[in-house]
Amino acid sequence: MILSIDTSCDETAAAVVSGRRVLSNVIYSQVLLHKKWGGVVPSIAKRAHEERIDWVIEETIKKFQILNSKSQKNSKLKIKNSKHLDFKHINYIAITIGPGLAPALEVGIKKAKELAEKFNKKIIAVNHLEGHIYSPFVQNSKGNPKIDFHFPYLVLTVSGGHTNLVIFEDHLNYKVIGETIDDAAGEALDKASKLLGLGYPGGPVIERLAKEVDNRDFYHFPRPMISGDNLNFSFSGLKTSFYYFLKKMNEKEKIRKIKELSSSFQKAVFETLIIKTEKAIKKTGIKNLALVGGVSANFYLRKLFRQLGKKYKGQVLFPSFKYLTGDNAAMIGVAAFFKAKRNLFVSDMQKLDRIPRMKL
Ligand code: KG4
Ligand code: ZN
Repeated sequence: MILSIDTSCDETAAAVVSGRRVLSNVIYSQVLLHKKWGGVVPSIAKRAHEERIDWVIEETIKKFQILNSKSQKNSKLKIKNSKHLDFKHINYIAITIGPGLAPALEVGIKKAKELAEKFNKKIIAVNHLEGHIYSPFVQNSKGNPKIDFHFPYLVLTVSGGHTNLVIFEDHLNYKVIGETIDDAAGEALDKASKLLGLGYPGGPVIERLAKEVDNRDFYHFPRPMISGDNLNFSFSGLKTSFYYFLKKMNEKEKIRKIKELSSSFQKAVFETLIIKTEKAIKKTGIKNLALVGGVSANFYLRKLFRQLGKKYKGQVLFPSFKYLTGDNAAMIGVAAFFKAKRNLFVSDMQKLDRIPRMKL
């Protein structure tokens, strides 16, 4: 049984997992706090994590205790009203140490150390990116979905902070073969959304508007860095070209064409992702695919990814539940389970620190 915590960005999250099963999961999103600033503000994130982390962990443990003692009469009420957190069934504590916002990561790490000391538990340090990679492996408390996994996988991680292509050879064995040299895919969508006056986060609203015009391409914005066999991504040039394109339009025109603009921008980002993934399939010979991270919530991107998988007759994985696309602690707990199996615990807790630019 692992209590896992993630405070890497703008979600305060905790979960209890047993193997790949999630027994309890709580996510307190800060998105409303950051919305008016058009993006995540580190100092606001830090304070919000500090204010909420105790409540999030208490709720997670209480939910877990209730599930654990379902058979006992009146136990639900007793646990709900109890101020005493019972850690006796928790074996380890898992914590995200990077990559992410330093002030945000610090809050979770401090709390993990505090709990580990108080309850005498070992800590498992997890890379946030390996958490995302494990999101298709997460099961609900009943052990669903049941999937046969066939390593190796080619994993495309697309979130607000990261875009990379990774060979997932086997458990805990990753090789990064491509990454963004500037903006992440989600960040590009967020910036386009801001330029269109659609607010933060941009991904979901752009998805909705694009769908209304059948995800068609009207303006053919550039697909960056698709020539050659380079597997790195770059989205800042696309953003600049979009910016100058919008500059030539007046406000009325922009609003009239908002769906066409959203759809064309989204298409440029997604086609680039698909072209690069196909290049990676050809280069590595790996046909089994996984799409993870916040942008993997997008149904149109999933459709394109599924088509790619079908073309090469490979297995295609997505995060097993919607809440696993964005940031959460369940995926961190499942990654930690595989580390615990190999005794990969933190040996010196005093030295445990955040690594904001942590690599895989
Ligand atoms: O994984 P995540 O919650 O946080 C990071 O670790 O960065 O990803 C957030 C990103 C944001 O850029 C957001 O716009 C994008 O995921 N996103 C989407 C959708 N839902 C969230 N992008 C496209 N379509 C969506 N439905
Ligand atoms: Zn993330």
